[in-house]
Parts: sequence; C-alpha cells; structure tokens
Amino acid sequence: MREVLDLISEEVVRAFEAADIDAKYAKVGLSNRPDLCEYQCNGAMAAAKEYHKAPIQIATAVCEHLSKSEMFASVEAVNPGFLNLKLSPSFLADYVAKMGADERLGLDKVEKPKTIMIDYGGPNVAKALHVGHLRSAVIGESIKRIGRFMGNEMIGDVHMGDWGLQMGLIICELQLHKPELPYYDENFTGTYPEVAPFTVTELADLYTTASAKSKEDPAFKEAAMQATYELQHGRVGYQELLKQILSISVADMKANYEKLDVSFELWKGESDAQPYIPDMVAKMKADGYAYESEGALVVDVKEETDTKEVPPCMILKSDGASLYNTTDLATLVWRMKDYHPDKVIYVVDKRQELYFTQVFRCAKKTGIVPESTELQFVGFGTMNGKDGKPFKTRQGGVMRLSALLQEIHDMMYEKIMANGTMTEDEAEETAKIVALSAVKYGDLSNQAAKDYIFDMERFTSSEGNTGPYILYTIVRIKSILNKFFGDADAAARAQKLAGFEILAPQSESEKSLMLELVKFNSAIRNAYEETAPHKICAYIYDVANAFNHFYHETKILAEEDEKLKENYIHILEITRAVLEQSIDLLGFKAPERM
Ligand code: ARG
Repeated sequence: MREVLDLISEEVVRAFEAADIDAKYAKVGLSNRPDLCEYQCNGAMAAAKEYHKAPIQIATAVCEHLSKSEMFASVEAVNPGFLNLKLSPSFLADYVAKMGADERLGLDKVEKPKTIMIDYGGPNVAKALHVGHLRSAVIGESIKRIGRFMGNEMIGDVHMGDWGLQMGLIICELQLHKPELPYYDENFTGTYPEVAPFTVTELADLYTTASAKSKEDPAFKEAAMQATYELQHGRVGYQELLKQILSISVADMKANYEKLDVSFELWKGESDAQPYIPDMVAKMKADGYAYESEGALVVDVKEETDTKEVPPCMILKSDGASLYNTTDLATLVWRMKDYHPDKVIYVVDKRQELYFTQVFRCAKKTGIVPESTELQFVGFGTMNGKDGKPFKTRQGGVMRLSALLQEIHDMMYEKIMANGTMTEDEAEETAKIVALSAVKYGDLSNQAAKDYIFDMERFTSSEGNTGPYILYTIVRIKSILNKFFGDADAAARAQKLAGFEILAPQSESEKSLMLELVKFNSAIRNAYEETAPHKICAYIYDVANAFNHFYHETKILAEEDEKLKENYIHILEITRAVLEQSIDLLGFKAPERM
C-alpha cells in the first residue's frame, strides 16, 4: 500500500504545479505543531526567493488548489508561509480499513529481495555469556526479523569465538586434573571417548582458573600458547578435545539464547574459517596485496580521504600465527562461496569499528568480497549500571547474562504475585514473557550506538516508555476483544471483523489513534532502511499512548450504537495487530493476561 505521506505529497505536488511553482518545493512532513495541524509543508518559504514573491502569497495560491482535494479536512496558509494540513476523516477511515483488510497491514515488501547475512551474538566458547553479549543478540535478532519481514532472505550466523588462546588454556588446565585422558597421548590410536570429560559448569571453572593462572604464571601461559598452536596446526588429540568443548558449550549457548528468544540459522565459529586461510593468504601474496612488514604479513588499507590514521590490516603475525583479522577475512571467503550474500551486517561492540573498517577495506581490495556486496558495521554502545559504569553485579563482578535474566524474572514474578490474580504457574509463565520484554525493549528503545543505563526498576515498570507498558496496552486490548467475541475462534472473529465498517473518527482521540495507525508501513520501512529497531519502539510508544488516551475517553463495549461499537472493535483489532506485529519484530511477545 502506498504510504500516507506519499499520497499527501502527490496531492501537494499537483497543487504546487497548478500554482506554477516548481514541484521540488512541495515537500511534506509530519507536523511539528500537532496542536495546529497533522502534516505541513514549508516549501513556500524556500520558493519565495526564486519566484520573487512573499511566501504567504505562494502558500495562499497553493492552498487554493489544495482545498479542492478530498484528502483534507482543512488546508490553511499561515504566516509567514506555512501550509497546515489536516486529513479528512473519511480518507483516514478508508486507509485504516484497507490496512485492516491486508494481512501485512499495508506494508509492502522490498521490490528486490536480497540475501543478507547477519553476524551477531559472537559468544566465546567456554566463557559464560555476559551482558556485553546481550546487546549483540538482542539488536541482531531484531534487525534480522525486520529484514525478513521486509521480504529478504536473512541468514543469522552466531560466529562463535572458538579458536583463540582460551582453547589452549582449557587444554592445559584439564591436563593438570586428568593427565590420563587419551587426548594428551600423542601415540593414541584407539577411538576417543564419546562423552565429554567435563560438565558445562566444570568447563567454565576450568577456563576461569586457567585464565587467572596465566596472568601470574608465565610458564603456564607459554604452555597454553603452545597448546593453542598445536591445536591450530592439526594435533589430533587436541582437535578431538575441541569437539567435546564445542558440543558442551554450544548446547549451553543454545539454551541461553532460547531464553532470549534468539535463534541462529548457522552455528559457525572462528574455527570454521581456518581451512580457508592458506589459500586466501597465498592469493593475497600472489596478487601483490600482502607484503612483509617487520616480519608480519600486512595489507595496506588506508585511503586518501581518511581523516584518522587507518593502520594496515595484519594478516599473519611474524611467527606465522593467524589473528582475529585473518579469521574474519577467511569467514568472508566461505560466506561468499556458500551463500553469495548481497550484504553482510555485523552487530558488534562499537569499539571494534576501526578494526572492521580495516577488515572491510581489505576484503574489498583483495577481491574476497565483490564491490556489489555491501559490508555494514552496526556498532553498539556499552550497557552501564546506574553509576554510569559498565554493568556489574552487586558484588562488583562481571554480571552473567543468566543471572541478570533471573533477577529480572524474579522481580516481575513478585510484582505479578502481589496482584494476587494468578496461580504460581501462570505467574511464572507470565513473568518470563514480561521480563523478556523489559530487557529487550529497555535495550532496543535506545539508539544502538549509544551507551545506555540498565535500570531494572525503570525497565520493569508498567508505566512510561517500557516493554511492560506496551504489553499492558496489548493485554488491555485483547481483554476487550475477548469480552466482545466471547469464545468465537480466530476464523469466526475474522469473518465478523470483515463486516465491521471503519467509520470516520468520532472524536479527537479516535482520530489521533487512527493517525498513528496509518504510520505503520512507513515506520517499519524506515526502521529497516536505517537498520534502527529503536524507531519501532518510538512508533509503538506513540501508538500505545494514543490508544490509552482513546480508551480512557471512550465507552467501547457499553456503546449503544451497534455500528459505532463494531467500528471501535475493528479499530482495536487493528491496533492490536500493529502492536503485536511490531513487538514480534523487536523479538518478544505479549501474554494473554498480566
Ligand atoms: N567473539 C567476539 C567478542 O566476544 C565478537 C565477535 C564479533 N564478530 C566478528 N565477526 N568478529 O568480542
């Protein structure tokens, strides 16, 4: 469906042309004075110079032509030359009705769907997920859902960190506890055990102990580096052990992401890129891009227009070992080979921006990625505590994701139980759903690149710009709809709704709600084009406010005029659909009751 703003713009263009003013001045936007009008055009002011006329003269001439349009209830030219527009109630009713009849609520898919890979999550094997990983998962999942809803093929890849020193650390630490394991015997020829020699908690402990030890004990660190090197250069026992570490770790990660309602199409890691490194490096050398500098192999990536220094991209260290860069480049090799993406999006901490500039330039320069494939970095800021410092536990330690989720869940559970309307089981289920909305909305309602303060009290409050507030609004609507429809099933409801006419709005609050509803398609398209889930939050907050205002002023179920009541019910249903579709794009759901 054409967006309302486009339809208005067309009318305004026609009016400008009819008044002999160039159409380029006919730009229309949402009003920034909602008390005066709904949409406005300031083009007369800009045109005044070219036409040597007073802006108000031009505005008045355009206004005369526009007044004939059926789209507007009123068009006014006001000093010094603004055009103030109000939509006609019947145009609005008509548009809302069309939205209601469309299962996509008036949002068209993109004309040319793309294949888009999205690299997010980025957990590190054997290390517990911490809140830093939360943002990547939450933002990435939403970007993926938005892209998919727009009609693109979206492929999410978790890109685990499974290839660094942490592996060597675990190998060495485990050897101290269980030296008899066959993984350490270089002459072992039997079959390796099927069961892992540790649980997930033991694995995390092994890593924590080893990591602390490596900071104090240089010999231990040296041994871990050696083990990492041997693992990376094909030592069979270590590779078998890596498989066990991975299987235990991945199962745990999956369970954690499931709690966040985050899922990935691909469970690839840094280790999957390793087979592509030798050929990639050989080609970079043969093509003359990679050269030796102080023993290391590098590719220059600076450009003339750079205002900041962009250092060369290091491909191999002087000892021949590969780096984070090497892995990211080789990952692009298989991504291009297997999926031919039109675009790859990286949702990573913004402190890695310069690093990704290097990787992207190197990938393009050396031909790993063709010019036609877009590489996009979506950097996010830090999640801080109320003290403005990176979020910590009360004891000051690194907050684990699972602990954080549990804490919010408990808080929600207590609030719900305090209301005294639910059984323990139902409260448990509901707390889960609402807690997730609190965490995700709290994160997504901020522009990703900004740091934000994780304020548990505020995020779990049912008032203000929060997830629970949006859910309360949805639950309120659902409960009215349920009262109206009784036990009619979805099909019966849909059939009835199709016969419920949308009438021209009766009140200011109803009109305001309808004006918000019709922005759905442009709001989502905008969030998609700008890779900006926070725009959806801002939109649904407006919708929820407009709805609650309307609700407090209007008798809905008690309305005696049947036609009017049916109209209200239909508008409620469309409001519900808009809100539920939007929160699905943000990555959470609404409960039936709260
Ligand atoms: N594992 C990394 C970390 O914890 C994030 C990975 C980001 N993605 C990438 N392709 N480098 O910082």
